[in-house]
Amino acid sequence: MINQTTTAVPGLAVAAATPELAEPARILANRLGLTLVETPDPNQLSALLLLTERRLELHQMAAGAPGPVYVELIGETMGYRLRHGGGGKQALARAVGLKGHPRPTVIDATAGLGRDAFILASLGCRVRMIERSPVIHALLADGLNRAAADPASALMVSQRIRLLLGNAIDLLAQPTFPAAEVVYLDPMFPGREKSALVKKEMRLLRLVAGEDPDAELLLARALARAQSRVVVKRPRIAPPLSGPVRPNYSLPGKSSRFDIYLVRMVRPVDQAG
Ligand SMILES: C[S@@+](CC[C@H](N)C(=O)[O-])C[C@H]1O[C@@H](n2cnc3c(N)ncnc32)[C@H](O)[C@@H]1O
Repeated sequence: MINQTTTAVPGLAVAAATPELAEPARILANRLGLTLVETPDPNQLSALLLLTERRLELHQMAAGAPGPVYVELIGETMGYRLRHGGGGKQALARAVGLKGHPRPTVIDATAGLGRDAFILASLGCRVRMIERSPVIHALLADGLNRAAADPASALMVSQRIRLLLGNAIDLLAQPTFPAAEVVYLDPMFPGREKSALVKKEMRLLRLVAGEDPDAELLLARALARAQSRVVVKRPRIAPPLSGPVRPNYSLPGKSSRFDIYLVRMVRPVDQAG
């Protein structure tokens, strides 16, 4: 299934954790075109978007399913990664070219749960995030709102991060869509990560967003649009995305690899010389 910018997710509904949240939950359900349920029935549902007082959570309904997935950009896990991830020396930062070009602008065309974009923003990049799954987009918007309300990250979020709902394949093809030095891609890859936490997140992400079988077309669009480079995150042992060109070089990360495609901007003939 190619995921779309509509919420065609069978067995997914919205619920409010408390009666006070019923109205915002109803608005969310309407916006996403999902049913609002009062008492979620695990026999009827495969997943549930639950609006709690703290955040928006995505729950898998199967018996024995792991805990919920939500976007946490200011919590302990992300804080740890920001403190100990290696700053500008980490593979992600080197992959986008932070060293050679101090603060490149980035289009993160596969925003997902927003962690890579948040790290790049925390390193000084202005990042435009694109997410095509309305459910993932809603989780991401909720996480960004909480990060924007936290004094430690408020300024960074308001000054450096933008979130768009849409298919990057279409948006990148629009001549009016602002270009960026770097286009960053991290499409889904079947069974790609080892850690139990990521497995849980990826399973749920796949359940609501589907696979990304059109990643090669996305790469072609990104190559046509990036001003300096395209970076593709791949599992360590996976082959590069097939596309019009091979990566110029790769950088190994902890469980993944970054393939870097350098883009040479060709000046139009009438401006050359
Ligand atoms: C593996 S996740 C990305 C994880 C992300 N890098 C992070 O740090 O959380 C891939 C995401 O990209 C989205 N996606 C894939 N192709 C897309 C496209 N053409 N346009 C917009 N979003 C896309 C999927 O819906 C999914 O949420």
